[in-house]
Amino acid sequence: MSCEKEFVKKELAGVKNIIIVASGKGGVGKSTVAATLAASLSLQGFSTGLLDADIYGPSIPMLFDIQHCQPAVIEEAGNTKIEPIIRLGIKLMSIGLFIDPAKAAIWRGPLAASGMKQMIDQTEWENLDYLIIDTPPGTGDIHISLLQEYKIGGVIVVTTPQMLSTSDVQKAISLYTDNNVGVPVLGVIENMSWFTPKNHPGDKYYLFGKGGGDALAKRFNVELLAQLPLDETICEECDYGKLKAVMESPSVKENFARIINYINKRLPV
Ligand SMILES: Nc1ncnc2c1ncn2[C@@H]1O[C@H](COP(=O)(O)OP(=O)(O)OP(=O)(O)O)[C@@H](O)[C@H]1O
Ligand SMILES: [Mg+2]
Repeated sequence: MSCEKEFVKKELAGVKNIIIVASGKGGVGKSTVAATLAASLSLQGFSTGLLDADIYGPSIPMLFDIQHCQPAVIEEAGNTKIEPIIRLGIKLMSIGLFIDPAKAAIWRGPLAASGMKQMIDQTEWENLDYLIIDTPPGTGDIHISLLQEYKIGGVIVVTTPQMLSTSDVQKAISLYTDNNVGVPVLGVIENMSWFTPKNHPGDKYYLFGKGGGDALAKRFNVELLAQLPLDETICEECDYGKLKAVMESPSVKENFARIINYINKRLPV
């Protein structure tokens, strides 16, 4: 007889698909990918939400320039409801809108996980085709709670091409494919794959190595969804909350149209 605990995974009323964006490693572009994916889905007409579950380093407020927004909290018949902030048609929620990240940094795992659950459960998502969740680096309490408690449609794993990144990311994929909490891995996105200088548009410089994303996808038998080049616009613009300008980039448009096409086949609405 197995003594493994069975988890009862909750569906969120009105939310058709939850997608986690994750990586074993920090700074590989999870938040950028999560935000760009959410914006691309919204521009294609899908009803989209984006939850920043990175309790220790929330990036979504800055990416959407909503750091100073305060979501309305409504108490009704003993229930608390939080109204998301809407930008580019996306329903946004982040712990960064409620607490100073410096204070969250001293939260222990279970407290952080319960803060995240409160945000997911109490936000008025209403009807969503896709809820994208941006996660912190690693495979900590936040990830494990998400996997144990919610019915997740799939995970998108972000990596950079170097082997160090991919070996950390392998640990994360092993968590997601674990028999006990497992969820489908929709695929790998290799970010910062190469750099093409503006004055040499035909050249590709592989600054962080080559082939890591492809090797990872093959190893776990999942799709390599895209290779996203290093993009000066992303670096300059995203730090100033100008995601909208990034969405104009032909390479971003093309890559994310393909990614969405694939997601939509795997997780139809
Ligand atoms: N393709 C890209 N081209 C240029 N800059 C990028 C690209 N992707 C991400 N960046 C930049 O790299 C930095 C890290 O990206 P981001 O914050 O999305 O990573 P992360 O994985 O979410 O980090 P963390 O683990 O800290 O949450 C940011 O300044 C971002 O603007
Ligand atoms: Mg991030």
